Amino acid sequence: MLDKIAIIDFGSQFTHLIANRVRRLGVYSEIHSTDITADKLKDYKGIIISGGPASVNDPKTQINPKIYDLNIPILGVCYGHQVTIHTLGGRVAKGVVGEYGLTQFTVTKNIGIFKNLQKKSYQVYASHFDTVEKIPEGFEVIGGTKNDPMSATANEQRKIYTVQFHPEVTHTECGEKILDAFIDITGAKRDWSIEKFISQEIESINEKVGDKKVFMLVSGGVDSTVAYALLAKALGEDRVYAMYVDTGFMRKDETVHIKKSLASIGIKNLHTEMAGPKFFEALKDIYEPEQKRKIIGDKFLEIQRDVARELNLNPSEWLLGQGTIYPDTIESGGTRNADKIKTHHNRVPEIEEMIRQGKIIEPIKELYKDEVRMVGARLGLPEEMVNRHPFPGPGLAVRCLCAEKADGEYEKLPNGHLLPIKSVGVQGDERTYRHPMVLDMKEPHDWNKLRAIAPSITNADSRINRVLVAVAIKDDEIKKVSVVKKYLTQDRIKTLQEADALVMDAIKEEKDVWQCPTVLVPLSVNVEGEESIVLRPVSSQEAMTANFTELPWDKVTKLAEKLMKIPGISAVFYDITNKPPATIEWE
Ligand code: XMP
Repeated sequence: MLDKIAIIDFGSQFTHLIANRVRRLGVYSEIHSTDITADKLKDYKGIIISGGPASVNDPKTQINPKIYDLNIPILGVCYGHQVTIHTLGGRVAKGVVGEYGLTQFTVTKNIGIFKNLQKKSYQVYASHFDTVEKIPEGFEVIGGTKNDPMSATANEQRKIYTVQFHPEVTHTECGEKILDAFIDITGAKRDWSIEKFISQEIESINEKVGDKKVFMLVSGGVDSTVAYALLAKALGEDRVYAMYVDTGFMRKDETVHIKKSLASIGIKNLHTEMAGPKFFEALKDIYEPEQKRKIIGDKFLEIQRDVARELNLNPSEWLLGQGTIYPDTIESGGTRNADKIKTHHNRVPEIEEMIRQGKIIEPIKELYKDEVRMVGARLGLPEEMVNRHPFPGPGLAVRCLCAEKADGEYEKLPNGHLLPIKSVGVQGDERTYRHPMVLDMKEPHDWNKLRAIAPSITNADSRINRVLVAVAIKDDEIKKVSVVKKYLTQDRIKTLQEADALVMDAIKEEKDVWQCPTVLVPLSVNVEGEESIVLRPVSSQEAMTANFTELPWDKVTKLAEKLMKIPGISAVFYDITNKPPATIEWE
């Protein structure tokens, strides 16, 4: 019997997060595609069926019914809940309203996976439209939400459990207790640990690299630094060559800071490439976000190749190292059933091809940020480095929105206005490219009200994936809004660097802020030709879901006053949307 849990992947953004949570509870798991046979699953201790963007009526996204006869405990999550109910004779139908984000869940029976739940009601993360209308024979309802009263079911006799919400998501209050209880039901041994991960990874790096060396792209961020440290520990520093590329889209004074901190951890071979002009040239008339990402990813590779040539590194003796972590892969549509949310710079097609040819090594590619930080701490990296806010590889290029023309109208809505720009979001496991709306509010000071407003808007109006509050406006109230034609230029990046530096300074004591993108959007408010800034502080653990952070208003107001003094800024907004339905970054 394998002392592991099998996870069947229907393409949810969260499938690997299930593996992460199960690991954090000490248990090994393996992820399988939906065409796995029942015979191959028979030796696992338990099975978790993931969510996914599918519908039970799609013949391509069914599950092999024999899996339910294996006599192994099963937990169906989100789509896994729906497909289990559908396959075993229940009924799933289109819901009346979707549930995207936090919703209130009531426990009606404390059995099985709910045996450790003490409270009656919990906040849970859901992301779905379809709902269960009838449960199969032998099942009972063990909990529900207002819009989805049969959202948790159990068949105690067969040890089959299902939940519509996502227990693997940290914002689901009772999520860990549910997974913990499920692991108890399976009887799986709890012997996974970070120390074990490190020693297994060192072994596998040596196996993969053989007598070659690694040319490693470092950014100064936690992921690439931890990946470097693991490679250096496994292979010795002489066999790892690090390259840092300044893309021109770094934070203010970032390169100086990063070089110092990389030196402080003893990186021996470090090459710095100042490549700003090359990136700006390649991006000069691009406004579409995915195209930007692709060009940046390709440019990284081109530069790496040029440098390798200059340094006379023979490609047959070197592998390319990257600090890719799991969310980079999943957001890039990296598993069979997953929708592409955005292409991370380390997942452009050319890299994918190099991966197929075995030319890439990514020692932390299965991990999430929380685990990467644990590995970093265990390897003795300085705390300041391990706990830095995450920063995307393409840097400020993704946070500087571009536009050729207005995308839609500035349209009046019941409690605000639709803005004529769009940004990327994620809803029900699918990428969205939708409008933000700004609330009509003179006094945006009540977090309790704001917290409830945003989800009610994004759940009801499918054109909207973000809700904003105006914090400062030139001329006090919004009279005229227009879109300015803008691309990525050095001037705009400089403006954004100034704004970002002010924001980072203002929030440095805020412990709840996990990351805080500052975004420059080509939206002029009242003053022709000027632009706006959006503040996007979020709390998260591993970036798969995030809640907007509720900063003290006096701090926000003071910060906005400073931001409004930057030349060319006509408004400051605050993003009050969670992920999902929005993403952390704006692009
Ligand atoms: P989103 O915006 O999708 O971001 O909620 C999730 C996390 O990923 C970071 N991010 C990136 N990191 N390369 C990276 O190394 C990228 O291309 C990239 N794009 C987004 C983002 O900052 C957040 O922490």
